[in-house]
Amino acid sequence: MNEAIRPGPEDPSQSAGLPQLSVIVPTFNERDNVTPLFRRLEAALTGLAFEVIFVDDNSPDGTWEVVRNLASGDCRVRCVRRIGRRGLSGACIEGILACSAPCAAVIDADLQHDEMQLPKMLALLQGGETDLVVGSRYVAGGSADSFNRQRAGASALATEVAKRVLRVGLADPMSGFFMIRRDRFERLAPQLSTQGFKILLDIVATARGELRTKEIPYTFASRLHGVSKLDSMVALDFLGLVLAKLTGDAVSLRFLLFAMVGSIGLLVHFAALYLALEAFDWPFPEAQGFGALSAMTSNFLLNNFLTYRDQRLKGLAILRGLLLFYLVCSVGLLANVGVAKSVFDQEPIWWLAGAAGALMGVVWNYAMSGLFVWRRR
Ligand code: GDD
Ligand code: MN
Repeated sequence: MNEAIRPGPEDPSQSAGLPQLSVIVPTFNERDNVTPLFRRLEAALTGLAFEVIFVDDNSPDGTWEVVRNLASGDCRVRCVRRIGRRGLSGACIEGILACSAPCAAVIDADLQHDEMQLPKMLALLQGGETDLVVGSRYVAGGSADSFNRQRAGASALATEVAKRVLRVGLADPMSGFFMIRRDRFERLAPQLSTQGFKILLDIVATARGELRTKEIPYTFASRLHGVSKLDSMVALDFLGLVLAKLTGDAVSLRFLLFAMVGSIGLLVHFAALYLALEAFDWPFPEAQGFGALSAMTSNFLLNNFLTYRDQRLKGLAILRGLLLFYLVCSVGLLANVGVAKSVFDQEPIWWLAGAAGALMGVVWNYAMSGLFVWRRR
């Protein structure tokens, strides 16, 4: 548990080959922040052997081009360009797993975190008594004055939930600014969720008190350029993380969202069926078919917008996805009816058979649409 961290090279001229510290910077549309951040890191880490890994989700503003440019003149800079994926947590995980130093820090690109704290954080990890150092806004000396009231309230609420429900002992589990020993991280990585915004909370909740942790204060500054990517969906991701950790990863937010969307689909089905029968005077089979098609279409759109937001299909891919979704769901319907019938044959309780069939249908649709419709590209 207490193995020492490999010390940095004696001769700083070898520093490019053997970094003591890897700094991971997740970016999405941050082209104007990349160079100022790197200059600040250079200044803050003078005399230390470090590398900076930018993990960019193929930003439309071409952030990765700016990073590549920087990297072509400085071997301490690297760029991981991810295509077809979105998400802060996933980007941080990939960045840390790609790094070569024994210690990895995560810092935002927009200069809201305080890079001057990094040497202090590194010294704490290298002391061997600490596995994780968190930059905290909520310990004495730290602050988040740049928050507006709404954001401050949301942050306080989420912090309370994390502390009480997940029994996390940190003052600022919502921080996105931290440094961790890579060996510790590597052990936890397979259990971490790539969805969502709160990677630190995930790390701490997953480690269940096994990480020796210290918090040091810093002041959360205002964003320099560009806009925040935090939106109302982040709250959903947060709930999903809390839920997953509470149930020992048995229930994922994705599955719950998928089931919720399916329940809405049931309402859509009945509304469309009623409309077709009453308003259009259609015969029952056509009306029922119309109901099913409406429900599948609404399910597909809602799933694309909510459940698979991070892998959302766009443009023509939407049409292809919709057709595949129809296909998957029709097979799901057969599975549903088949299971319901066999349960009913054994035990003629209508609601039990109905529920068993519906559950089979949901699980089938969820598994297959994850594989074929929103499959990872
Ligand atoms: N690769 C990638 N993919 N990066 C992303 C994504 C994404 O989908 N979304 C956001 N980022 C990057 C941004 O470019 C930025 O560098 C950093 O993640 C934080 O995103 P912001 O949009 O600036 O979020 P914020 O300021 O509201 O929240 C941040 O600060 C909080 C306080 O420390 C986050 O780091 C929170 O986790 C943190 O709690
Ligand atoms: Mn920010």
